[in-house]
Amino acid sequence: MHNVVISGTGLYTPANSISNEELVDSFNAYVTQFNADNAEAIARGEVEALAESSAAFIEKASGIKSRYVMDKDGILDPQRMRPRLPERSNDEQSILCQMGVAAAEQALARAGRTAADVDAVIVACSNLQRPYPAVAIEIQQALGIKGFGFDMNVACSSATFGIQAASNSVQLGQARSVLVISPEICTGHLNFRDRDSHFIFGDAATAVLVERADLATSEHQFDIVSTKLLTQFSNNIRNNFGFLNRAAEEGVGAPDKLFVQEGRKVFREVCPMVAELIGQHLSENNLNVSDVKRFWLHQANLSMNHLIVKKLLGRDALEEEAPVILDRYANTSSAGSVISLHTHQDDLPKGALGVLSSFGAGYSIGSVILRKR
Ligand SMILES: CC(C)(COP(=O)(O)OP(=O)(O)OC[C@H]1O[C@@H](n2cnc3c(N)ncnc32)[C@H](O)[C@@H]1OP(=O)(O)O)[C@@H](O)C(=O)NCCC(=O)NCCS
Repeated sequence: MHNVVISGTGLYTPANSISNEELVDSFNAYVTQFNADNAEAIARGEVEALAESSAAFIEKASGIKSRYVMDKDGILDPQRMRPRLPERSNDEQSILCQMGVAAAEQALARAGRTAADVDAVIVACSNLQRPYPAVAIEIQQALGIKGFGFDMNVACSSATFGIQAASNSVQLGQARSVLVISPEICTGHLNFRDRDSHFIFGDAATAVLVERADLATSEHQFDIVSTKLLTQFSNNIRNNFGFLNRAAEEGVGAPDKLFVQEGRKVFREVCPMVAELIGQHLSENNLNVSDVKRFWLHQANLSMNHLIVKKLLGRDALEEEAPVILDRYANTSSAGSVISLHTHQDDLPKGALGVLSSFGAGYSIGSVILRKR
């Protein structure tokens, strides 16, 4: 069995950003129009009037101030309220491939590696733009990597589950190194007409190079001390979009074919599960919570992260102990905790212990204990 490290991380951030105020202006323009168009039916009590959204509510309830997006104009157009991402021919790189390649190139550069050093690509993300051929194989070809590639989806926990799969392959000698890539266009599955959730998501892509420790030469290495995963079925975060939709015409275009959630229930149920899993994972490895210098947590809700770390430490976390990126990025699904890792690692001293943790639909929870080399 080989020891395994993360030897490089990479991040692709879209060029455009939408502030809460811009998003709310567009939503409220839609509400005004809807209520005007339906004024008579609303007066008769046949249609419910829509309520306006508020930028102050969004920041207070979630901690989100803005989000990066692949297309700003389509989302903010009150007549459209979804990104406009034109179809590409099969001869062009797909948009997920393009984002993934940008993140992967950065991870390889930080690891001091080229495509020739990589034996596999895992694309681990919430939303794949097509069933096949795998986006991972397209990225493999774009980067010129030999070996194999496959796609996997465990919603917000895709990256940590992908890191465990990659780590297993490297441990067993099936690959010298594996790229785990998470291109997330979350705005594609977000219902921008739903007041409860229209502010939640943003777009980004991350990449992590998982490599054999004895081969790694990078200046940015973390030992993968251990990985632990947990899933428990829940309908509280759900998306019923899929290939069978066309066989049930009655449901096409219904709100459940996009992201839907019971946010309060998710908050209540997931926080204790995450704290328990991380606590257990540390103790199984004879480590104390107080030994952990940094928690790179899934970025969905600021209060949720504060609560999880408080449950673990028994006190409020210092800012640097649980770095926040969701204020600028919003929830980027599986990319979130990796963005936190990517942007908050260089200040850690050798030997420092950290936990990368994701949580989300499934429910699915991942914990990866890392030690700076
Ligand atoms: C989504 C989330 C931010 C909502 O925050 P919340 O405090 O639970 O808010 P609620 O939905 O209970 O709504 C509270 C009030 O604000 C109102 N409200 C909801 N959306 C609003 C908006 N956009 N603008 C203004 N008010 C709004 C509600 O109508 C409700 O009003 P009421 O008290 O008069 O009934 C929060 O539940 C959350 O982040 N949960 C965790 C979700 C998660 O991690 N999901 C994983 C996804 S991958």
